Amino acid sequence: MRYLVTGGAGFIGSNFIRHIFNKYGSDAQVVNLDKLTYAGIRENLAEYEGKKNYRFLHGDIAKQEDVAEAYKGVDGTGVDVVVNFAAETHVDRSLMEAGTFIETDVHGVLVLLEEARKHAPKLRRFVQISTDEVYGSIETGSFVEGDPLNPRNPYSASKAGGDRMAYAYAQTYDLPVIVTRASNNFGPFQYPEKLIPLFVTNAIDNQPLPLYGDGKNIRDWLFVDDHCAAIDFLIGKGENSETYNIGGGNERENREITFKILEILGKPESLIKRVADRVGHDRRYSLDSEKLAALGFRCDTNFDQALERTVRWYADNEPWWRAIKERSAEYKAYYDKQYGAK
Ligand code: NAD
Ligand code: TYD
Repeated sequence: MRYLVTGGAGFIGSNFIRHIFNKYGSDAQVVNLDKLTYAGIRENLAEYEGKKNYRFLHGDIAKQEDVAEAYKGVDGTGVDVVVNFAAETHVDRSLMEAGTFIETDVHGVLVLLEEARKHAPKLRRFVQISTDEVYGSIETGSFVEGDPLNPRNPYSASKAGGDRMAYAYAQTYDLPVIVTRASNNFGPFQYPEKLIPLFVTNAIDNQPLPLYGDGKNIRDWLFVDDHCAAIDFLIGKGENSETYNIGGGNERENREITFKILEILGKPESLIKRVADRVGHDRRYSLDSEKLAALGFRCDTNFDQALERTVRWYADNEPWWRAIKERSAEYKAYYDKQYGAK
C-alpha cells in the first residue's frame, strides 16, 4: 500500500508511520508531508531516512503545490491512502492565537480534499483524523457518532470545520472518506506541552505540576498504539462517508493521572500546584465506541501498564524532551502568565 501521511513528524503521525512499517515492512510506501511547525520533529522517524520506501517532504497541507507533490507518492506513481494528521493541536495555544488553526485545520483539509478529487477514483481511502473534542463537553453518558457537534474552543471548532469538510467532500464528490474521532492520546513522542508529558518531565525535574482548576476534569485516555491500530483497521474495514469514534475506555480525572505519574516516579504530591482554570475548559469528554467494536476492533491496552511504559519512555529519553523544552520559551512565557499560581 502507498500512503500519504500528513503531520507524520508529530506525535500520533510518527507513531502511525512506525506502526505501518513494523506491520507491513517493505510492502508499505510512505510519504510524510509535514510543515515542521514547533510540534514537528523530523528526527522522530530518523531510522527511516534514506530508505527506499520512505520520503520526507517538507511542506504545508494548505499549499496546493506542496500537496500536489505529496500525492505523487514515494516514487512518482501516486498514493492509495491519505491519512491527515497534520493540524495545530493544542487548546491552550488556540487561546493565544487561533488564525493558524483555521489555516491548517480547516483550509488545509480543503486543499487535501481538492487534490483527492483529482486522484479519484484511484484513491482507495482518505482518513480525516478528527477528535472527540468536536462534540464538546458531556456531563453524563457518552457521545455517539450521530450526535450534534458543539465545539467550545478555537481548536475544537477548527477541527469540527475540517471534520465536516471531509464529510461534505465524501457526499458531494463521492470520495472514499472516513472521519475518525479519537479521545486523548498518550504515549512516546508526545510534545511536552500536553498534560501527561508536561507533568512527567516537570516531575523528573522537581518542577511544579500546574493542575488547572479543581483538577476534576475528565478525559478518556487512549494509548497511541491502540489509536494507530484502529486507524489501520478502519482503512481496510471502514465504510465510505462514515465517522468512527475511537475511545480508549479509560476515563480519569486529571488529578488521578497526576497522582499516578508522581507515584510511578516516586515524587511527592507537594509538586502539584493548583493554578487558574483554562478559560472555557471542557469538563468531560466521553465516547461510545460501539460502532468500531461492531466492525471487530477493540482497544485492548491496559491503561496502568501503558502509563507506566510512557513515563519510563520520557525518563529514558531526556535529550529528546529537554531540547524541545529549551526552544519553547515564547510559549512558556505565555503559559506562565496565563496559569500563574492562584
Ligand atoms: P502534534 O501537534 O504532535 O503534531 C502535528 C504535526 O502536524 C506536526 O508534525 C506539525 O509539524 C504538523 N503540521 C502542522 N501544521 C501543518 C501544516 N499546515 N502542513 C503540514 N504539517 C503540519 O499533533 P498530534 O497530537 O500528533 O495530533 C495529530 C492529529 O490527531 C491531529 O489532527 C489532532 O487533531 C488529532 N488528535 C489528537 C489527539 C491527541 O490526544 N493528541 C486526540 C484526538 C485527535
Ligand atoms: P491537554 O493535554 O492539553 O489535552 P486537551 O485539553 O486537548 O484535552 O489537557 C488534558 C487535560 O489536562 C485538560 O483537562 C487540561 C488539563 N491540563 C492541566 O490541568 N494542566 C496543564 O498544564 C495542561 C497542559 C492540561
